[in-house]
Formats: sequence, structure tokens, C-alpha cells
Amino acid sequence: MKSKNSKQKLFAAFVGTMLVALQSCLFIHGCSLPAQSTDSELSKQRLYSSKCASCHRLIGPQEHTANVWREYVYKYGEAIPVQQKYALIEYLEHHSEKTP
Ligand code: HEC
Repeated sequence: MKSKNSKQKLFAAFVGTMLVALQSCLFIHGCSLPAQSTDSELSKQRLYSSKCASCHRLIGPQEHTANVWREYVYKYGEAIPVQQKYALIEYLEHHSEKTP
């Protein structure tokens, strides 16, 4: 009886350990998930700071409205490939000053 009890305890300890391991696994994985989903967001942000902050300061996306951003991206982004231009517009529009 005593040995069974300690086996149960051992089992409980084992399950507990596994749960902790699973949790930390989920935690680590969970941490990487939002990073992944914002990855394109992050790369757009990087694209913006690499393409649009060489001549002047990095202008905050919230400083202009979506329409204005579109104009400026076309004005200053002539040499930027279309795909990247769209990514930039998407990023800037998403964070742009909201028109009331
Ligand atoms: C070749 C240099 C150069 C690059 C690269 C450049 N700009 Fe500019 N930008 C300027 C100059 C010069 C001005 C000031 C004259 C004007 O307002 O047109 C300016 C002004 C601006 C303004 C208005 C001023 C302000 O403070 O709000 C915005 C918005 C802007 N740029 C956005 C962009 C964006 C978006 C990109 C990337 C697609 C970009 N710029 C890349 C030279 C550049």
C-alpha cells in the first residue's frame, strides 16, 4: 500500500512536471506566435524606415492621413518596386491619422 502511494506521488510529480514543461512550451510557442503574425507588420516598418528616412527624419505614420501618405509614397517612392510600395502604403494607412 505504501509503495503504491509513493508511486502515485511519483506519478503526480511526473504529471506535474510534464504540465509545467507543456506550459512553458506553450508559453514559448505562444510568444513566437504574435511575433510571427506581426512579422509582416515589422518588415513593413523596417521597409518604411529604410526607404523613407534617409533624407529626413522618420515621419510618424500618425502625422498624416491615408490620402496624404499615398501621395507621398508615390512622390518619393518612384524607385521603389510596386510590391514594396503597396506594403508601405498599407503600413502607413493602417497607422495613419484617422479622419474623423
Ligand atoms: C531623396 C530624398 C527623400 C526620400 C528618399 C524620401 N523623402 Fe520625403 N521628403 C524629402 C524632402 C526633400 C522633403 C521636403 C519637401 C517636401 O515636403 O516635399 C520631404 C518631405 C516629406 C513629407 C512631408 C513633410 C513632413 O514632415 O510631413 C512626407 C510625408 C514624406 N517626405 C514622406 C516620405 C515617404 C513616405 C518616403 C518613402 C517612400 C520619403 N518621404 C522618402 C525627401 C525625401
